[in-house]
Amino acid sequence: MPYSTFSDAQVNSLIKAIDSDGYAVLPDWASPAQLKELQALVANAVAAAGNDYVALSGRQSVTGTPMYDWGNSRDFIDLCRRVVAGATGERSSDTSLTQTLRCLTGNGGRRESLIFHYDSFVLTTIMPVCMPETGERGDLLMLPNHRPIRRSYLRNLVDKVLVDNRWVQHYLKSRLKRDDQAFTRITMRPGHLYLFWGYRSLHTNMPVAEDALRATAVFHYHNVHGSSSLASRLRKSLGTFKGQDVPDDVPQT
Ligand SMILES: [Fe+2]
Repeated sequence: MPYSTFSDAQVNSLIKAIDSDGYAVLPDWASPAQLKELQALVANAVAAAGNDYVALSGRQSVTGTPMYDWGNSRDFIDLCRRVVAGATGERSSDTSLTQTLRCLTGNGGRRESLIFHYDSFVLTTIMPVCMPETGERGDLLMLPNHRPIRRSYLRNLVDKVLVDNRWVQHYLKSRLKRDDQAFTRITMRPGHLYLFWGYRSLHTNMPVAEDALRATAVFHYHNVHGSSSLASRLRKSLGTFKGQDVPDDVPQT
């Protein structure tokens, strides 16, 4: 990562860009060598998954790669903390990033596309590793800053329920067909880092051709309701009900 420390003015201009355009970009976040390493990792992961959709969550699954280092990078976490603090007025106590390497290809990749959602984290950063250059590129699509940061977890849950149903998903897709100008659409370039308010923005990715590959390194920072007791109680009871851990946030970006 060529960036180490940022001045307050640089952090402020990132925040300004996210507020006004829906996103900000840090060009050439990854060096060509790092990008190559990650592309090899993606190729292996996709092959192991039978050339279908696969997501590697957390740092352990990417040990020995630049993604492992970034997930624990003091400079990166410090940048995220300052961006979040500048936007919310709160200094987050989160000391780590939540990360996923998301590889879209095949039939599974299509199923994982065009699912509009809000993240649980204030800041979402995405660094594309592989991007199709022609045809369906899986552009990032959003209605930026569509909701405020909710004070209560319950209100946040209402937002999510209102979006996570087939009627609203269908409505959003047909709106996209009718009037794609209503959405902010971002064609991302490998190696660049894209930042946006994942909690506030309704977002998803466009589909990718089955024989193409779109891989992104996604990092989230500051879980808004992470310390909510209702959130943890709900997660626990739902977890018991389903007999598994309920993911708080499935990155679908
Ligand atoms: Fe997301």
